[in-house]
Amino acid sequence: MKVLVLGSGGREHALVKSLSQSKSVSEIHVAPGNDGMAKEALCHNIDLKNYEALIQLCLRTEIEFVIVGPEEPLVDGIADRLRDRGILVVGPSRDAARLEGSKIFAKEFMNAAGVPTAKHVVVSSVLDIERNISRFQPPYVLKADGLAAGKGVFICKTKDELMSAAQDLFEKKILGGAGENALLEEFKSGWELSYLVLTNGQTHTSLPLAQDHKRLSDNDIGPNTGGMGTVAPLKIDAKLQQEIEEKIILPSIARIREEAFVYRGVLFIGIMITEEGPTVLEYNVRFGDPEIQVILPLINQDTGLLFKDLALGKLQNIAFKNMYTCCVIMAAEGYPSSPKKNVPIEGPVTKSDVSCYFIHAGTRRENSQWLTHGGRVLGAVGVGSSREEARRNAYSLTEQVRWPGMQYRKDIGAKLKE
Ligand code: AMP
Ligand code: GLY
Repeated sequence: MKVLVLGSGGREHALVKSLSQSKSVSEIHVAPGNDGMAKEALCHNIDLKNYEALIQLCLRTEIEFVIVGPEEPLVDGIADRLRDRGILVVGPSRDAARLEGSKIFAKEFMNAAGVPTAKHVVVSSVLDIERNISRFQPPYVLKADGLAAGKGVFICKTKDELMSAAQDLFEKKILGGAGENALLEEFKSGWELSYLVLTNGQTHTSLPLAQDHKRLSDNDIGPNTGGMGTVAPLKIDAKLQQEIEEKIILPSIARIREEAFVYRGVLFIGIMITEEGPTVLEYNVRFGDPEIQVILPLINQDTGLLFKDLALGKLQNIAFKNMYTCCVIMAAEGYPSSPKKNVPIEGPVTKSDVSCYFIHAGTRRENSQWLTHGGRVLGAVGVGSSREEARRNAYSLTEQVRWPGMQYRKDIGAKLKE
């Protein structure tokens, strides 16, 4: 079976790697991909907005199904365009992708579904904020409505900070159209987990829970990032798991069903566990990055067949390995605000053992030299029979690679007892 993966980062490399270990998969194609995937997949330099070229590639190479990695093409409607031409796709329709593409739509959906979430108002100007601020306590949370590549959430300790973020959004328009409207919402404190389910729009199968580490530096300090590292499975008590299923997952899927969304893919729910219980921070309509790097290695079956069935709208029961995984993100100097590109990387970046391997997120190869080519450069993945072993295996890799300004956290998964 031939498969096409769309995207070019760590998430897509993790998908490619998993498919490369599936007996059912004979050929993996990726567009546009990156140099780090070229060992396992055939990369096609096609822009993800060039639907016709992608469709022609699928037809010419007899692609059995497509997996869409990033959110942007999903929000733009790529899954509908491919399905219209008879191509099977893992990925929700454009209508459904509004769950990630519009924070306002997602909030209305959550309220209609009756899932717990922070109270909010919709704001579109500095004046709107002034009018509504008394309804909230600091810290204030301001979220741009549209896609903002991880830069759309402002957590403001004071009113001054909030007003300055509002000016950036509504007057300086730093996020363009994505920041035309926004949510001002209640701050929730607690700890976060990433809950990913596969869904066919009718029912769902939960994947092992993962924990991301969003802040740049050890002990959760520094700016928010796209994710500096993950561990899985995150073991939580059965009561909390049940509460999440009943109060969040089932009503969300029921609402998707009521909306009659064409949804064959992943629903990734960012959940904050607060003292009052679990509450939804956000929906994503694609695999988490770097969550999927630690989830896929735990799946104990052929992921080619699993995803093909998903594209057909069939959900398999999934068997998981009794193993642990850890992914440590190695980021470029200046990440997350202004990552430095084209810095030479030293060390065995193509290393790929069963217990430890690199996932390439932002690398490029020129002649035989590997260079940084994005904010998150590499993911060092460790697999083990205990969390500690998985961490040790991941960190054994980080010691072997270096470049000027390289940054990674030393405490990924360190606080978890089991
Ligand atoms: P989001 O893109 O909505 O997940 O937001 C990115 C990050 O901002 C989350 O992972 C949280 O760490 C933080 N965040 C978002 N919403 C809230 C909230 N209402 N209260 C506290 N933290 C939040
Ligand atoms: N790791 C968070 C995300 O993929 O959105």
